[in-house]
Amino acid sequence: MSSERKDDHVRLAAAQQDEARIASNGFDDVAFVHHALAGIDAERVSLAGDLLGARWSVPLYVNAMTGGSESTGRINRDLAIAAREAGVPLASGSMSVALENPALAPTFRVLREEHPDGFLFANLGVERTPDDARRAIDLIEANALQVHVNSVQETVMPEGRRAFSSWQRSLESLVAAVDVPVVVKEVGFGLSARTLALLADLGVAAADVSGRGGTDFVRVENARRGGEGYAYLAGWGQSAVECLIDAPAPAPVLLASGGVRTPLDAVRALALGARAVGVSGPFLKTVLDGGPEALASRLGEWTTHLTALSALLGAAATSDLVRTDLVVTGDTADFCRARGID
Ligand code: FNR
Repeated sequence: MSSERKDDHVRLAAAQQDEARIASNGFDDVAFVHHALAGIDAERVSLAGDLLGARWSVPLYVNAMTGGSESTGRINRDLAIAAREAGVPLASGSMSVALENPALAPTFRVLREEHPDGFLFANLGVERTPDDARRAIDLIEANALQVHVNSVQETVMPEGRRAFSSWQRSLESLVAAVDVPVVVKEVGFGLSARTLALLADLGVAAADVSGRGGTDFVRVENARRGGEGYAYLAGWGQSAVECLIDAPAPAPVLLASGGVRTPLDAVRALALGARAVGVSGPFLKTVLDGGPEALASRLGEWTTHLTALSALLGAAATSDLVRTDLVVTGDTADFCRARGID
């Protein structure tokens, strides 16, 4: 059942990439004020930075997706080859199935085999035990652990769990138990200001806001259950842009994902305070259509464009992007007004 679910997720998420809905999302509400004389030389731009205890050459990563079936093991292999060729960090999909069925472990271990020196995130749901977390980290010699909080997905998923009250306590024990940085992530519904403040209190190293506007797990899980189901929940949550603008201080180190379509979206997220940007659905589509070569080449192109856009915006370092001038309009501006943010 679990392996079948992994295959369903890939198929249904890849199909969403062709839709007009993803052609427009919250990132379109953020525009840079163009300053014609503000640019610098591209050769002066460095995208490198220290993050989660490691040196990243580019503030971009292939975000959590898959593993746990024969075909998703092959996808993981291709993702890892592409990430290695491009020197980009990579997150595993949820590894719970491998803990329950060790025969599936190779579909995850392939990430380390193909990306031996890369930065890898292990991935587990928040309900797993500290022992599970240590086993998942060991399985791929992970540099960090992503803990996903996916209450909306669980609500819609036909076989989902609907008992959420233990999540905070469980997260606390995970944070205390592992010796790599913990990143709490959503799966496409966003992390609110209140959630981010709580994560800071719990000592979580980083949070990936993973907002609405890209891969939509209400629709993925609804398609798996058939009928109308919870279709009315489509649009639940906050976009990555809204989450970044609404983030409290102090907050964990912020990572952004959910609906990132282009290098411009990535630069928008970095300008709004994200330290790195994750992409799942669009890169999945690339690797399914064109194999690891196509994804490696796309990742290389994104890196070139991130450098070019930083030069255009006068940002020698990624951290300089937060000093650019932004204009926020549309639904995001409405959200800011409703939340009392200037
Ligand atoms: C995901 N995502 C995900 N996240 C997670 O933490 N654990 C997981 O196992 C999965 N599985 C998964 C499968 C597939 C096929 C996709 C496309 C995505 C969610 C993912 O990491 C990300 O948060 C969302 O997809 C939003 O980003 P995009 O797709 O809009 O770039």
